[in-house]
Amino acid sequence: MATIRLGDKAPNFTADSSIGKINLYDYLGDSWGILFSHPADFTPVCTTELGTAAQFKGEFDKRNVKMIALSVDGAASHLEWIKDINEVQKTNVEFPIIADEDRKVSDLYDMIHPKADSTLTVRSVFIIAPDRTVKLMLTYPASTGRNFYELLRVIDSLQLTANHKVATPANWKNGEDVVVSPAISTEDAKQMFTKGVKEVKPYLRMTPDPTI
Ligand code: BEZ
Repeated sequence: MATIRLGDKAPNFTADSSIGKINLYDYLGDSWGILFSHPADFTPVCTTELGTAAQFKGEFDKRNVKMIALSVDGAASHLEWIKDINEVQKTNVEFPIIADEDRKVSDLYDMIHPKADSTLTVRSVFIIAPDRTVKLMLTYPASTGRNFYELLRVIDSLQLTANHKVATPANWKNGEDVVVSPAISTEDAKQMFTKGVKEVKPYLRMTPDPTI
């Protein structure tokens, strides 16, 4: 198992899934990706998370992000579980759930934390950019379902800051004012951001979202 750090290439893999065999890089193509693990099939919190992910598909599509879930159960089990998720959450899970029975992908991505649970994965999230680099990693315990609004918010920040010399402040949401990158002088920022730059402190300069 290799340690993955931000900026590393996401390890590629080929694995069985609820939609058949998939290769991560082929599946992602030119898209962003979000890979998230679930401790096990037919568990309550995971059921709410996968249903929510499916309900948010339109929002992930808008951002050109492909979802891939993972649990250490087999593909036949995933398919039965998906029926329950669709029924309970009134949705349609279309994205693949990796069937990681041999823990190959879980080990590759360090998703099993033995002191939390020796066999099941924790709730890991990896956001992968189109150049295949890992842009975000999150680790939640099995007992806490993730916040999919937060995942969309981070993707909005990652996509904005990939293209503009800005960063996003605490609790920022799409469309709100952003922080000018510390690498830019205030003088240069005023040329670059024509909607205005407010210098709160020499190191804290705010500007409207440059994309709206
Ligand atoms: C759940 O998804 O509900 C869950 C899974 C493992 C441990 C605790 C909760």
